[in-house]
Amino acid sequence: MTDSQKEPKHPLLSMFEAADGDYVSGEEISRVLGVSRTAVWKQIGRLKEAGYRFEASPKLGYRLMASHAALHAQRIESALTTTVFGRQLTVLAKTDSTQTEAEKKAREGALEGTLIIAEEQSSGRGRQGRVWHSPPGLGIWMSAVLRPEGPLTAVPQLTLLTAVAVCRAIRGVTGVEAGIKWPNDLLIDGRKLCGILLEAVVEDGRVRHCIMGIGIDANLEETDYPEELRSKVTSIRRESGVDTDRSLLIAAVMNEFEMLYKLYNEEGFEPIRLLWESLSVTLGREIVVRDVRGERRGIAQGLGQQGELMIKTEDGQEIPVYSGEVEFDPNHKR
Ligand code: BTN
Repeated sequence: MTDSQKEPKHPLLSMFEAADGDYVSGEEISRVLGVSRTAVWKQIGRLKEAGYRFEASPKLGYRLMASHAALHAQRIESALTTTVFGRQLTVLAKTDSTQTEAEKKAREGALEGTLIIAEEQSSGRGRQGRVWHSPPGLGIWMSAVLRPEGPLTAVPQLTLLTAVAVCRAIRGVTGVEAGIKWPNDLLIDGRKLCGILLEAVVEDGRVRHCIMGIGIDANLEETDYPEELRSKVTSIRRESGVDTDRSLLIAAVMNEFEMLYKLYNEEGFEPIRLLWESLSVTLGREIVVRDVRGERRGIAQGLGQQGELMIKTEDGQEIPVYSGEVEFDPNHKR
């Protein structure tokens, strides 16, 4: 089922989708739609205003550039290989936060895997009460409903699992070799390009549902960020030099997530732990962890059975870290 507030199905759009990235001549469009060439030109103008991008060739006509296209529910659905995740899909033009939207749906009984995507968020939420910058048409801002069976203590493991799924999807679709900083930031050369936020609703000590929020800076340029963020962040576009087809990447994240979630439910955390470690940029590095208890320093060793980060302190002790912000020690380069 698709519920999209972005896409009144435009007949012209259907023609371009049927062409699957090939050119469609102005003459053919005006013949099929029974309108003048001027009307075709005007309709293309309206689609451009709605976020779609076209390449025009005097000889060949127009071609819809998928990587620039507005998010498109059918395009996402046709790339899904899942049975659950992403199958109940809503694409919104704008919302305050997809977390809030998904949470509302979950409370109303939405099925596991229900996915809310927005072209723009006016109050995107990050971890630790931070704001998540979510400009229109450039990133992937989405939240999915999870209904995990396990106890509350399993939620951090799901956060790590999500990071593995997104990392594999980005690498697979774009070739950009993102790595995971504990617990779940995706980085390239120390700059963040994706954040993950898992919010759990607990009732009588059990997880009623979780909202898995994912923000991927897909096609942002440096100037799309506020000044104060520019040195800390990057995007897939900045790393690869090309735009990413966001619809395909969304589907890939759902495909990876469902596969890993199934593996986790069948075999437990161990296979996820090994995958996370293989994609990590934290391990082997000297780090500083800050949380409410203060600051701890050490070399990141690996993940424990619950997903905690094991660090070796200067006095040779191995201690677990369950929460906090990790920073790389600037004096220590691998
Ligand atoms: C972080 O601080 O690293 C987590 C960022 C999570 C951002 C995503 S964007 C989609 C979803 N909706 C939100 O308001 N936040 C998450």
